Amino acid sequence: MEERFLHLEEQRVQLEQRRLELEREHEIRMFGIFAQMLGILKQGSGASTGPATTMSCQGFDLAPGNPRQARISQGLEQMFPVFSGLSNNPGIKHFQGSPYLSTRGNDIKFKHTITEEFSAAFLVDQYDEDKNPNGIINFGISENKLCFDLLSKRLNQNDMHHIEPPLLQYSDWRGHLFLREEVARFLTYYCKATIPLKPENVTLFNGCSSVFSALATILCDPGEALMIPTPFYGGISTHIYRYGNVQLVFVHLDSKITETNTRPFQLTVEKLEMAWQAARSEGVKVKGLILINPQNPLGDIYSQGELLEYLEFAKRHELHVILDELYMLSVFDESVPFHSVLSMNRLPDPQRTHVMWGTSKDFGISGIRFGALYTENRDVSSALASLCYFHGICGIIQYQIAQLLRDHDWINQVYLPTNRSRIKAAHTYITDELKTLGIPFLNRNSGLYIWIDLRRYLLTGTFEEEILLCRRFLDNKLLVACGKDFQCFEPGWFRLVFTEKIHRLQLGMQRFREVLEQQAQELHGKISVPRQLVEQEVQADSTEETGFVPGQQGPMNDSKIRDLIGLLQQQMGSSAWLQKSSLE
Ligand SMILES: Cc1ncc(COP(=O)(O)O)c(C=O)c1O
Repeated sequence: MEERFLHLEEQRVQLEQRRLELEREHEIRMFGIFAQMLGILKQGSGASTGPATTMSCQGFDLAPGNPRQARISQGLEQMFPVFSGLSNNPGIKHFQGSPYLSTRGNDIKFKHTITEEFSAAFLVDQYDEDKNPNGIINFGISENKLCFDLLSKRLNQNDMHHIEPPLLQYSDWRGHLFLREEVARFLTYYCKATIPLKPENVTLFNGCSSVFSALATILCDPGEALMIPTPFYGGISTHIYRYGNVQLVFVHLDSKITETNTRPFQLTVEKLEMAWQAARSEGVKVKGLILINPQNPLGDIYSQGELLEYLEFAKRHELHVILDELYMLSVFDESVPFHSVLSMNRLPDPQRTHVMWGTSKDFGISGIRFGALYTENRDVSSALASLCYFHGICGIIQYQIAQLLRDHDWINQVYLPTNRSRIKAAHTYITDELKTLGIPFLNRNSGLYIWIDLRRYLLTGTFEEEILLCRRFLDNKLLVACGKDFQCFEPGWFRLVFTEKIHRLQLGMQRFREVLEQQAQELHGKISVPRQLVEQEVQADSTEETGFVPGQQGPMNDSKIRDLIGLLQQQMGSSAWLQKSSLE
């Protein structure tokens, strides 16, 4: 009886905690909506509210538009888009977190990004043709599912099955020498390095997420920062924060084309300089710059000239540069050149340049967990070696990866050409669909995803609305990642991952269309959108680059409030918390 009682009590505590979490999530969404209403009312009375007021970003958020007057926010509630933690916010002060955890433990437990929250829903209800045909289709998590046949065949060949004592025992924490040698050869060849890269400069980890985590921890002290252009793969925020307590300084890029911004979301040295100056004037210590090339989520590939400029900028300010080249072999148009930093004859600051690559994306084997860092800096690699202790890769897997990377014939003649043509076909399918729907997108030739513009499906153009639309996709069994999770400064951008089998793509697009139709109807009917807005939406024709429409100006304040009331009703209607509460 005692055991049974304890068991029931444990269940009750868990239930109570989950209920608190849900309640808080609901509360924060409602809070967001009310804050906006307040903002509008204030505007009406002459006070101004900028976009950063309604929803600020994670880390050090330098007010865009006027970076010199940087607004730097570090409050916990501003750290993660889905705030659910220990907050200074008076409205939610009563929440104490778990009594079993430290402050840090609570911080880690309760802070989640939107993608993490939505991905958790996806993982328990994944679509499967036979077992779960009504499950969720993944357009959100960046994975390549197109070459499983080739990989499973290659990984099942006889040369992969090998076991010897060293593979079953402790080894050099940086990774077995045989694999570090293979990685050095592989990177020399595929990154077109002018001189052979050295195995002693290679450190191996269980994935590039761990590389970020370890590198941030050894390059920065708690509270110090790394700079990163937005939008970017949002996982980096958590990777560098959870262990190292390292923050990000955002270099906000926007979609407007101007004289200096010749393509949407273009990174320039001027923007880097402004963000750096702004951070410095606020007393933030910036230790490095993170660059993703090919970029996730934009798909941009930096030219050699651009790369050199960014590296020179970093050298001027003694910043480390962390280059994430995880998608380097996922450029699917061969006429588009990719330049690895490792191919440069002369690096401006080799001791502060660190390059990472892994097999998750280019080989579509994210479950294997393999990532590598290349750095010439001895101090950095020996500090990393100590952290590798926690991030090691199983010996047998190291052996198999070495066999895979060694097989240039198979990679060049079978894998890469097939992978490229399959990605290209999937990209053509998705872009044709988007064109039919009149949805603007960035037409790039790299990556497993496409960056699309759904701003016209948001009435008031806020992040709250963006998240609600994302939730609506999920309710219609489609996982899509929203711009907020990439710290995009403009609400309304989304990333679609398209490297899925064709029938899944088709079903996913069908669900996608349904949600947009519902959304358009609601914009048109329920909350009185000007008719012309919906018509524009249907007529939009963005065949090549994004067909950018000017930013939506909200109508009158009272109609904005009416729209927010609509949102409020939607939130109340779809709130998992309310359902849960009424059940209880
Ligand atoms: C740009 C980028 N870097 C790093 C990672 C982490 O990859 P992994 O830990 O699987 O190697 C991802 C995953 O989505 C990514 O998109």
